[in-house]
Amino acid sequence: MTREKPKNLWLSRWGFILAATGSAVGLGNIWKFPYITGQYGGGAFVLMYLACILAIGIPVMMTEIAIGRRGRGSPIDAIGRAVRENGSSPLWKGVGGMAMTAGFLILCFYVVVAGWAFAYTLKMLDGSLAGGSVDALAQVFEAHNANALQLGGWSLLVALLTLWIVARGVQAGIERAVRWMMPGLAIMLLILVGYAFTSGGFDQGFAFLFSFDTSKLTGEALLAALGHAFFTLSLASGAILTYGSYIPDGQSIARTTFMVAIADTAVALLAGLAIFPIIFANGMDPTAGPGLIFMSLPLAFQQMPFGTLFGVLFFAMVSIAALTSAISMIEATVAYLNEKHGISRLKAAMGAGAVLLVISLLAMLSFNLMAGWAPLGKNFFDWLDYLTSRWMMPLGGIFIVVFAGYALRSDIMRDELGLPPLGYALWLFMVRYVCPVLITMVFLHALGWLGF
Ligand code: PFF
Ligand code: NA
Repeated sequence: MTREKPKNLWLSRWGFILAATGSAVGLGNIWKFPYITGQYGGGAFVLMYLACILAIGIPVMMTEIAIGRRGRGSPIDAIGRAVRENGSSPLWKGVGGMAMTAGFLILCFYVVVAGWAFAYTLKMLDGSLAGGSVDALAQVFEAHNANALQLGGWSLLVALLTLWIVARGVQAGIERAVRWMMPGLAIMLLILVGYAFTSGGFDQGFAFLFSFDTSKLTGEALLAALGHAFFTLSLASGAILTYGSYIPDGQSIARTTFMVAIADTAVALLAGLAIFPIIFANGMDPTAGPGLIFMSLPLAFQQMPFGTLFGVLFFAMVSIAALTSAISMIEATVAYLNEKHGISRLKAAMGAGAVLLVISLLAMLSFNLMAGWAPLGKNFFDWLDYLTSRWMMPLGGIFIVVFAGYALRSDIMRDELGLPPLGYALWLFMVRYVCPVLITMVFLHALGWLGF
């Protein structure tokens, strides 16, 4: 069987690394990681999260990239080709379909949070966050969400930027965008961490993130840590697999995976180290939840020297991080429509965008008109987040590792991963035993069938 010819490839050696890091580093690191770490009690959660990245995130990412590059296509097609090469059931393509759907559903609520970040960059500048207390800032946040035009307008802007970049193509759109956004992001983050060092709360912030209370090692927290490991590395959502399909032959999958995973983890920890000291130095509550960076931080910034400047920098950084992630969520869908059905990328982006607008509108309404619609205590926005992070991604993760570890002939993956024998054996052990067993245990616990 001859190898599939790629239709698209990254232009530079750094193309995949920048794009995949752009996908990985996002609201998950700067918005979600700090607030769930706050909710689940700090160090113990951080430890479980790191363990999930190492034991599950890294093997799953290597597997996704290898499948993508082997099949040279979006998730459904790449898996389809691997299945044909291997002679196994075409039903496996459903795994690709589920991943693609998960990425798309994530984007539907992600544009809302990204819209907050864009809006807050401006609010920081124009003084609408000046003065007041946490209560006053909570009111600003609520007023922003109650104003359909503001809330919708900013999310629409994010959606349009995302669709525009993706429509322009892999090299001229995605790669060109990440080539300047990612270095910019790194510089902004380093400046902000330096600033946080001087805020005076550093010791407390550090202790909160890294000191570890065994009573907080609960099954519920483990479930959240697992879901977050998938979310933060953009796994089982089509993004990494599709980006992987554009990697030239011969580039090391293991090395690139480690680079992306280390960069993502470093940004999450640095974001925590930048945010918690500011929160503690100003006597605020680390368990504030999803509004943490929007309600507490602006107030903290005001109480600090040059706070406005650094506040603008912070929200601008969050906005850029969100944008480079958003484009990866819809790339699988656009690539699928383009490769499989011959629809131009522009038309594919417009079609997907139309569906995106409808679903994301429902996510926005969760903060105003539809706030009362909350079956089982979750509104529509919460359901999108919960279903994707807690269920679709870990489930997709199991299917991907089982597919690669059991269904595929071993020479296919060995060939594609190009690892030395010991490295390959370790990968195989992880995807055959460690990943499926750990993910299943976490699920059984979630269903209440396994107590720990
Ligand atoms: N990894 C992104 C973050 O941490 O913000 C979120 C994400 C991107 C999830 C792309 C899924 C995805 F396909
Ligand atoms: Na991330």
